[in-house]
Amino acid sequence: MRKETLTPAEGIRLEALLGHLEQLLPEAGQRAEFRRVALQEPPPALRLNPLRPQPAALRQWLETRAEAVPWCGQSFVLADSERRLGCTLEHALGAFYLQAKAPSLAVEALDPQPGERVLDLAAAPGGKATQIAARLGNTGLLVANEPAASRLPALVGNLERCGAGNAVLTKAPGVLLARCFHNYFDRVLLDAPCSGDGVLCKDTRMLSYWSPEEAGHKAEQQKGLLRAAFHMLRPGGVLVYSTCSLSLIENEEVLAAFMRRQGQAAEVLSAPSIEGAPLPPELAARYPADFARMRRVWPHLHRTEGAFVAVLRKREATAWKVVEGDAAAWDETPDEAAAAPVQAALEGWWGFELGLPADQALVLEGRHLTMEPRLAAGMRAHLPSFVRAGLHLARRQKEHYYLSQGMVALWGDRMRGRRVHLDWPQVHALFRGEAVVLDPPVAERGEVLCSFGEWTVCWGLIEEQGRRLKGMVPKWARKPELESLV
Ligand SMILES: C[S@@+](CC[C@H](N)C(=O)[O-])C[C@H]1O[C@@H](n2cnc3c(N)ncnc32)[C@H](O)[C@@H]1O
Repeated sequence: MRKETLTPAEGIRLEALLGHLEQLLPEAGQRAEFRRVALQEPPPALRLNPLRPQPAALRQWLETRAEAVPWCGQSFVLADSERRLGCTLEHALGAFYLQAKAPSLAVEALDPQPGERVLDLAAAPGGKATQIAARLGNTGLLVANEPAASRLPALVGNLERCGAGNAVLTKAPGVLLARCFHNYFDRVLLDAPCSGDGVLCKDTRMLSYWSPEEAGHKAEQQKGLLRAAFHMLRPGGVLVYSTCSLSLIENEEVLAAFMRRQGQAAEVLSAPSIEGAPLPPELAARYPADFARMRRVWPHLHRTEGAFVAVLRKREATAWKVVEGDAAAWDETPDEAAAAPVQAALEGWWGFELGLPADQALVLEGRHLTMEPRLAAGMRAHLPSFVRAGLHLARRQKEHYYLSQGMVALWGDRMRGRRVHLDWPQVHALFRGEAVVLDPPVAERGEVLCSFGEWTVCWGLIEEQGRRLKGMVPKWARKPELESLV
């Protein structure tokens, strides 16, 4: 949503905003450079998704044609801005997420570890949630919360495309969720709703309303959310507060108010070290010395959007007002008995082992087989804001279980036999939702996996004595014009 021509009122607001932000830079050269690039769109970037098998060719391609992001080993900035990354086979298969360079810093600062319980309090559309799921390696628990109904489909779609099986999706304003999770999560990310002055380079909509007073209103909401996020963190746990705003109002001022209120309960830790521009001494002096551990990603220094990241550790448990009827215990055991024979049948049929991590469960609900975190059972039963959990793996039809695209993408490479190898026009046809004529006919019958080079792209049905392949690419993954990145 970037307008090439601004109205006079927008021009005035732009000038006020740039004047406001450039005061944070230490010297005139940097201020001029910041102004020069403020409205320049940065080059596209992507983050590889290690939950999906990653053919060596993809990484090699990136290493020669893209620049690695210094703070995130999976992120790359591409030189070629013409390529429509969202229309590629690799994107459809969830091999990468289109994420700018700046936002990946928040999850690197959060540093989630396998097996942990992590909350992403403001999660849609899911850039950071999918990054957290990948860092957890589909173990532990990721609660991805988003109160805006209109933003949930994108979050669901991205979690599914990227193969996040360990996620529980909730829909609640952050402060209400705090009535259900007391001192609970190992790590919490609050990627707060903000005025978005850091993403001006690609979205100028905020120029229709921005003012320091408006930013102040956002800051009031951010303070409430930060308190709620911190309450949900366990003592000893780590919280990351991030925004795509560069201003003091939505960052240091929010954290200063929070620290005054929390006293000794919170300590500021160092965010990952990046090339930075420290606040001018007269501004830095307004805040405690440990605020220098917080980081700003500046467009002119890092050729990306602006962003802010602060890392806090919780020293002591906190209290929250509980309303009668609020649930806060999740010790329900998932019913796995019904899923066991289905698992055995699928493993036998396709020749592979599912091998789920011990903290994940296989659950059969009606016709659907799902992988989900063990802790999801209690949340499904008791959490009012629960929306859904896990990753759909298979669906029953006439006593037979058919694979989901998520199952193919996560385990397809490990399945032995029952496979046809396709060329690019055939793959393209399947991703347009069309059947493929096989000439010469193939010996396989019935269900097969479809490969293209190193990728397992989908499953399909061989019909008409081996002469026709009907691909089972779900509607969400179909692309009328498919390209290949590599
Ligand atoms: C900056 S965006 C999050 C981006 C996301 N973390 C990502 O990486 O894709 C902020 C999100 O906060 C949500 N939000 C707004 N009010 C909220 C509230 N009271 N509690 C929690 N989230 C809220 C917005 O709907 C929006 O999706």
